[in-house]
Amino acid sequence: MKLVVAIIQPDMIEEVQKALVRHGVNGMTITEVSGYGRQRGHLEVYRGEEYSIDFILKIRIEVLVDDSEVEPLVGVILQSARTGQVGDGKIWVVPVDTAVRIRTGESGPAAI
Ligand SMILES: Nc1ncnc2c1ncn2[C@@H]1O[C@H](COP(=O)(O)OP(=O)(O)OP(=O)(O)O)[C@@H](O)[C@H]1O
Ligand SMILES: [Mg+2]
Repeated sequence: MKLVVAIIQPDMIEEVQKALVRHGVNGMTITEVSGYGRQRGHLEVYRGEEYSIDFILKIRIEVLVDDSEVEPLVGVILQSARTGQVGDGKIWVVPVDTAVRIRTGESGPAAI
């Protein structure tokens, strides 16, 4: 199992959620987060601004999937979250040891 984590533009959450539901994911978690990437929260990096860093509001999406689902899922997020502008976000994939569905006690991929 893997945890697919995507940091996206808040404006894109509706689009991405629709695409993920259409794709058939069983569940997801979203969180409001703040962060910055290479531009340090600025549209452009100006000389003299190297100490000025702004956190920008983003949405973090987490989806737990079976290994074979990682590639197609990343593809769906890429397509639905992309505007082509800086700050579009980032996706990373984290290995997951186990998952348990609390109601049934099922574990591993059966819990997804
Ligand atoms: N190296 C990183 N580590 C952790 N979080 C990151 C990292 N890079 C980006 N993020 C998170 O992703 C968000 C979006 O990053 P962003 O899309 O600006 O990345 P970027 O590398 O600057 O790409 P771009 O040049 O397209 O803007 C950031 O606000 C931050 O929350
Ligand atoms: Mg950036």
